Amino acid sequence: MENQVYIMDHPLIQHKLSLLRDKTTGSKEFRELISEVAMLMCYEATRDLPLKEIEVETPVAIAKTKVIAGRKLAFVPILRAGIGMVDGVTTLVPAAKVGHIGLYRDPETLKPKEYYSKLPSDINEREVIILDPMLATGGSAIAAVSTIKKHNPKSVKFMCIIASPEGMKALEEAHPDVPIYCAAMDERLNEHGYIVPGLGDAGDRVFGTK
Ligand code: PRP
Ligand code: URA
Repeated sequence: MENQVYIMDHPLIQHKLSLLRDKTTGSKEFRELISEVAMLMCYEATRDLPLKEIEVETPVAIAKTKVIAGRKLAFVPILRAGIGMVDGVTTLVPAAKVGHIGLYRDPETLKPKEYYSKLPSDINEREVIILDPMLATGGSAIAAVSTIKKHNPKSVKFMCIIASPEGMKALEEAHPDVPIYCAAMDERLNEHGYIVPGLGDAGDRVFGTK
């Protein structure tokens, strides 16, 4: 099976992404932009939610209309930077549950280390969307998908803001069944595993830790 990859080039997303990339954008604005981009991306990532027809009485007549057919969602941000995307997606889908996976990249080996995991107890009944702004080597995304798959969710999608070609390829090879949503595919990784041109260290920029 080949992954579905969606690159979201909507003008609003691209405009906000340019502001995110700008090194002079401070933490407050960066947080707001990450949240807004995540909300816009969520609109597309939930396009396949099934609908059912209902009847509603308008002030004029009975309308045959549609509502979401009870499919349950869970968002799982990868700590830390993924937390910046949660507000935006839960604004669109307030009934979704939120799990957390804590991972950090060892700066020497660039391998992910898992330090925390707390997922909704009914995750096996839910469609999961993993959130992380950066798909760099792909190690963190691959580890997060593997952790979640052990809990037998109904499906898993991965949503990032910037991907590198290397990370995209690695995630596709490791989890070919997982659709990938991103706002931009950048040029490459540098020798420190940072995406070029990218936006720098997403966690530090969200939380102002550098
Ligand atoms: C960043 C980012 C991803 C990861 C991507 O997190 O938020 O989780 O790097 O890199 P990868 O694709 O090579 O695994 P980081 O490890 O810096 O942790 P932090 O968010 O806690 O700062
Ligand atoms: N993690 C980040 O936050 N930024 C990168 O460019 C790569 C990994």
